[in-house]
Amino acid sequence: MSPSGPARNVEFGASEHVRLNLVRGENARLWDDQGRAYVDLGATHGAGSLGAANPEIAAAVADQGREMVYLGSGYANPVRTRFLERLLSLLPGSFARVFLSNSGTEAIEAALKIARSSTGRTKIVAAMRGFHGRTMGSLSATWRRELKEPFEPLVPGFVHVPFNDPRALESAVDESTALVLLEPVQGEGGVHVATEEFLRAARTFADRSGALLGFDEVQTGIGRTGRLFAFERWGVVPDLLVLAKSLAGGVPIGATVTTEEVAERFRGSHHSTFGGNPLACAAGLAALNFTVRERLPERAERLGARAREVLGGLPAEKIREVRGLGLMIGVEFRGKAAPYLAALQERGFLAISAGSTVVRLLPPLTIPEREWEEGLAALLEVVESG
Ligand SMILES: Cc1ncc(COP(=O)(O)O)c(C=O)c1O
Repeated sequence: MSPSGPARNVEFGASEHVRLNLVRGENARLWDDQGRAYVDLGATHGAGSLGAANPEIAAAVADQGREMVYLGSGYANPVRTRFLERLLSLLPGSFARVFLSNSGTEAIEAALKIARSSTGRTKIVAAMRGFHGRTMGSLSATWRRELKEPFEPLVPGFVHVPFNDPRALESAVDESTALVLLEPVQGEGGVHVATEEFLRAARTFADRSGALLGFDEVQTGIGRTGRLFAFERWGVVPDLLVLAKSLAGGVPIGATVTTEEVAERFRGSHHSTFGGNPLACAAGLAALNFTVRERLPERAERLGARAREVLGGLPAEKIREVRGLGLMIGVEFRGKAAPYLAALQERGFLAISAGSTVVRLLPPLTIPEREWEEGLAALLEVVESG
């Protein structure tokens, strides 16, 4: 093990399980410090949708770095303008304003502040099993108790309703509601896909009460679910759209997108030193162009359908359900997922969990078909022999 390797654990909050020291990547392949190769079935947590070292992202960052590394957002900058225009050109015409930040949780914080300020209301309705981040506001919108308890008191005014239960939503959304905040597919909570009925109901009840509807597409956004944005599948357009993870091909970024009308009603200020920095915008522009040109949403849809076909063969006595959309797939076991993740790692495939019983697959959307087939075959194998 190299001296810079995982033996010295000085990182605050580093996970307990045995950590690999991954030093290099090429598309969906990652190499550790011993030269062993792994296939990324989720190691990049959905942020590496374009692969671990996409040459177009690397070139965009390097080229921009030679022009200008940093500029405060109070000044105009051509790469930021081009990135924002490109992003808006891919969204329905109702979206007109973007707040740029550096992560998913920051983009959610912005959505919470925008919603409260522009409606003059305080209540936020979110969903059970939802995950929106780990800073105090986004953590308040997150559901899992054990993530929240050590940090209480959190921000008041948040209520959670059962996911995919329109009646519960109807009774929760009222005249004091600023925002209904939902993931179209719940990721961390176990890969649960929203029903069309639920999302339509959310739109209706938000409109009826004067609340805003916000979709957290931090994980589902930018092609992951087989559409550029997951909401396109159902045609339910939110007032606030929250993006991060793969928006800039793995370079840190967050975006909170909203309408002119909401922006006009916003009172107060919100700002981030690094939000909208030239490096992230250059990477974001390159990532959007790459995703559209390479038709990655269609690819995600096709490879995802293939996965569900293969995983349909998993033994029912061990598997409760296979769920997901596109290349966002959850395999729920009847027991713990951890031994299967370890067995996959042994075979050279890195997947992640979503709760204690779900193996989650979030490969790069660019994963070569052969590696994807090998990954699925490895999962079948570890389940059968486990
Ligand atoms: C749906 C969703 N929202 C928000 C976040 C928080 O994003 P970040 O880790 O970039 O703060 C995540 C992270 O996994 C997420 O999946």
